[in-house]
Amino acid sequence: MNLESLNWGDLSPEIFLKEYWQKKPLLIKQAFSNFEDTISADELAGLAMEAEIESRIISVDNNDNWQVDHGPFEDFSQYGESYWTLLVQAVNNWSRPTDALLKPFSFIPNWRIDDVMVSFSTPNGGVGAHLDQYDVFIVQGSGKRHWQVGAPDNTLTNLLPHADLKQVSEFTPVIDEITQAGDLLYIPPNHPHKGISIENSVNFSIGFQAPSSQDLWSNFADKLIDNNLGEERFSDPDRALTNTSYLITPKDKQQLKAFMLQQLEQESFYEQFIGQYLTQGHHAMEILIPVEDIDESKLNDILSEPEISFMPVSGLKVALINDEQTTLFINGESFLLDNQTLPLGEKLAQQQALSTHEVKNLAICLKNKQLLTSVLNKGYWYID
Ligand code: SIN
Ligand code: CO
Repeated sequence: MNLESLNWGDLSPEIFLKEYWQKKPLLIKQAFSNFEDTISADELAGLAMEAEIESRIISVDNNDNWQVDHGPFEDFSQYGESYWTLLVQAVNNWSRPTDALLKPFSFIPNWRIDDVMVSFSTPNGGVGAHLDQYDVFIVQGSGKRHWQVGAPDNTLTNLLPHADLKQVSEFTPVIDEITQAGDLLYIPPNHPHKGISIENSVNFSIGFQAPSSQDLWSNFADKLIDNNLGEERFSDPDRALTNTSYLITPKDKQQLKAFMLQQLEQESFYEQFIGQYLTQGHHAMEILIPVEDIDESKLNDILSEPEISFMPVSGLKVALINDEQTTLFINGESFLLDNQTLPLGEKLAQQQALSTHEVKNLAICLKNKQLLTSVLNKGYWYID
C-alpha cells in the first residue's frame, strides 16, 4: 500500500482546495489502492482499554434506543455482533502507521489537523445522522459502509437521543454510496452525514481543528496574564472638555479599542502565543522522557553509533514560524532558532527520522547539540 500518493483521478489538491475544501462534500473511490488497515480491530480494542485514551461505544437497539458508553472498556462481549460502533480518538498518537495516514493530506498545513479517529463498526452500527463543526476526511478501511452526506440545511431538527449523542433529523443526501477499502470521503463542517456499517468495518477519520475566536481571545488573555503583560492603564492626556458627560464618545471607544489591540500588535509576543497555542496537543500521547538526562557527552557517544536514528514520538504537533524571527514550536513549547540552528530546526519541524550521520552533519556546534538534547530530554524525540 502506498500512502504517499492519493489517487486524485480528475482532481488535484489545487482543484480540491478551490472547489471542495470547506464548500462541498466529495467521495473519491479508490483514492488509496490496495488499502490495508493501519491498525487491527483487536489493537483498536486494546487502545480502548487504556484509561488515558478517549473511546466510546455507541449502540442502538431495534426500538431506536441509543446508548453511549465511555471507555476504558474491560470487555466487549456484552455488545454482541451488531448495531454498535467503537470510536477511539487520536489513534495516530499510539500507532505510527496510523499517523502516516496524515501524509497524503500535507497539502493542508499540520496545524489545521487535530487527530486520526478510528472506528470499528459492526453490521448496522453507526453514530446516526449528525453534524460536525470541523472538516473531516474519512478513509474507508476494511469492510463496507453505507455513507450518506447532505448539504447544510437549517430546516434539520437537532435531536438528543442520549445526553451524550447529538444527532439531526433525516436529510436529503447528495452523496449516497457504499464505501469500500481505499475510498475517501470528504465532509465539510456542518454537512449532515450518516454512515451505517454493512459488515464489520473500520473507518479512519482525519479530523481538522479550527479555533474559535472566543478560544483564541481567552487563551491570548491567559498568556498576557501569565506573562504579567497588559497591566498598564488607559491614559488620555489630550482629553478635551465635555458637556455630555454621560456619553462614551466614538473617539473614546476607538481609543480603547486601539489600546486593546496594541497587545495583538506586539509581533513577537503574538508569534509566541499563536505558535504555542496551535501546537498544543489535545489528546494524551506517549512522551518518552529518558530515564537519565542526556548531556553533551552522552550525545557525543550516541552520535558515534551509525545504526541509531532520532525519531519524534507519534502524533507530535510541530510547526515553524519563519517571520521576523524563526521559532520552532513543539507541543506548545517554543525554541528560538538562529542561522546555526535553522537547518536542524527545519528537519525537526518536518518530523523525519534523522540518522546519526545526518545529525552529525548538522549538529556540529554547541547550539545544535543543545537543541537536540533539549527535545530528547523533554521526551519529544527518542533514540531508536
Ligand atoms: C464514524 O467513523 O463512525 C464516525 C465518523 C464521523 O461521522 O465523523
Ligand atoms: Co461525523
